Amino acid sequence: MEQNILTKVWVVDKNVEEQKSCAHLVDAAKLVESGELVAFPTETVYGLGANALSDEAVEKIFVAKGRPSDNPLIVHIGEKSQLDTVATDIPVKARQLMEAFWPGPLTMFLPKKAGIASKVTAGLSTVGVRMPDHPVALELIKQAHVPIAAPSANRSGRPSPTTAQHVLEDLAGRISGIVDGGSTGVGVESTTIDMTVEPPMIHRPGGITVEQIERVIGEVAIDPAFLTEEKEQPISPGMKYKHYAPKGDLWLVSGQEDKVRAKMLELLTEAKEQGLTTGVMVPREHLKHWDNHALVDVTLQCGSLASLEEVAQDLYTDLRRFDEEQIQFILAETYPREGLGLAVMNRLEKAASHRMIKA
Ligand code: TXA
Ligand code: MG
Repeated sequence: MEQNILTKVWVVDKNVEEQKSCAHLVDAAKLVESGELVAFPTETVYGLGANALSDEAVEKIFVAKGRPSDNPLIVHIGEKSQLDTVATDIPVKARQLMEAFWPGPLTMFLPKKAGIASKVTAGLSTVGVRMPDHPVALELIKQAHVPIAAPSANRSGRPSPTTAQHVLEDLAGRISGIVDGGSTGVGVESTTIDMTVEPPMIHRPGGITVEQIERVIGEVAIDPAFLTEEKEQPISPGMKYKHYAPKGDLWLVSGQEDKVRAKMLELLTEAKEQGLTTGVMVPREHLKHWDNHALVDVTLQCGSLASLEEVAQDLYTDLRRFDEEQIQFILAETYPREGLGLAVMNRLEKAASHRMIKA
């Protein structure tokens, strides 16, 4: 369905006390409270927010994103005490995680409280809840006086947005407004964990690492597929859908450094023979091999081997850049599956539809 809504943009400062920003957030929050869609920054990616108490408002999210209605949404709260208005029967371990990591990139699945719109949870008895670590998000939720349901603010299937510009690319004309609070920090989405099973089970690796969680509550379950080369094995409803993918064909190349480079050269040669536009995405340390290379049209840096945090921050921006440059064949290097690397590799494998070449 084509839509043509006027999309307002409010540019706000991270210092939400500042007068103009404060007034903008009051405006934006009123729209949310009244059932409209407003995108806003969190510490992970931009979210597309709606009043979580209204089925009618939440339905608009699915329409604007083109999201399948069986894929539940995360509810965002503005303070810890709001948790009891969203979820019930909260286990001790959930309280411990909340104290350790909220505000922050951790979403917990908990028994849903009556009052949360049924469309938010796609009919499930559990609800995903998190308190984001971003002053703009927290102030927006407080001013809206309601919990805010928000998926990532991209069209379904596209890379998640880490800037307001990314949101506009995907959703201008389809939503009522965007609060532009600059680039997000973490760059990949929150970790999701089901707290209604014992041991709690990680559904999606993200901004809080498995190691961090286990330090607080002991052993957690994790699908072994995340720890090795991942196969499509959906445990959350959303995981069966194609995600984060650029329009070109993305392939991952893994293995020992020299062999990876040789393999990439071979593949790029073939791609050029077929007349394709080509791109590579590599850590800073390997840029020197690819910059201005005759076989490569667009070379992008994705973080550094020394910092998986930087890799996570660059990932979605890079994937979107290849689309802007209309790149048809893309090669990306892989990263160690430890700490944030688990989330990075999960997103990369999905973006590549699990096309992995061992060099
Ligand atoms: O960092 C984030 O989590 C961002 C920001 C905006 O907060 N949000 C985000 O939402 O990534 P979304 O909708 O793109 O991803 C939520 C994931 C989906 O895979 C969905 O299926 C799963 O969480 N999910 C949500 N509620 C669930 C539930 N009750 N049970 C199982 N899976 C659930
Ligand atoms: Mg998403």
